[in-house]
Amino acid sequence: MEIKACLFDLDGVIVDTAKYHFIAWREIAHELGFEFTEHDNERLKGVSRMRSLEILLEVGGITLDETGKERLAEKKNNDYLQYILKMTPDELLPSAKEFLLELHKKGIKTALGSASKNAPVILDRLQITNLFDAIIDGNKVTKAKPDPEIFLKGAEELNISPDNCVVFEDAEAGIEAALAAGMKCIGIGSPLILGKANLVIPGFEGFSVDKLVESLK
Ligand code: BG6
Ligand code: MG
Repeated sequence: MEIKACLFDLDGVIVDTAKYHFIAWREIAHELGFEFTEHDNERLKGVSRMRSLEILLEVGGITLDETGKERLAEKKNNDYLQYILKMTPDELLPSAKEFLLELHKKGIKTALGSASKNAPVILDRLQITNLFDAIIDGNKVTKAKPDPEIFLKGAEELNISPDNCVVFEDAEAGIEAALAAGMKCIGIGSPLILGKANLVIPGFEGFSVDKLVESLK
């Protein structure tokens, strides 16, 4: 295949925000009177804010009406924002920025495809907004991953056909979304969880465009 564009998930691929999501959700669980563990938190990766809350309530065996849910989701987000707003470029995952720069140098387009409505703030804090030719975030989609909408919109905004696109993802739902979009997918993390991807790497350290091209031959 000819690679003309790379699309990136944000949380868990470019930056580790999962720890801040976890602290903020755990606070909500404590307020409701139950424990929320890091193991439970795994289920929230790649999932929208409202769906995350529903999973949290399921763990605690709690039912709430829509107003109650809206209130808690807003509270969690205000808490999460306190952490996000303090982030610095030091929190970029190793070699992620270097890989984005290499893509630009080689004329390969880049897009963000993140479920997070806070993605623009995070990119701004990390000072990498200008490294993306298109930004599709949780504010621009109606269907969550594993639906391919987010990546198809990214390709459309870049004006590149899906079969010339590669997606980088750390969540199973994201990998399913990429494959459903007709794109190749590189998993970032463990092959045990991301086995459906075309290739799984632990991170961008030691990775390069040449290695990417080689692996998809
Ligand atoms: C995803 C995260 O990127 O964004 C999820 O992996 C999170 O854990 C989702 O729930 C939505 O984020 P936000 O910032 O809109 O609450
Ligand atoms: Mg992710």
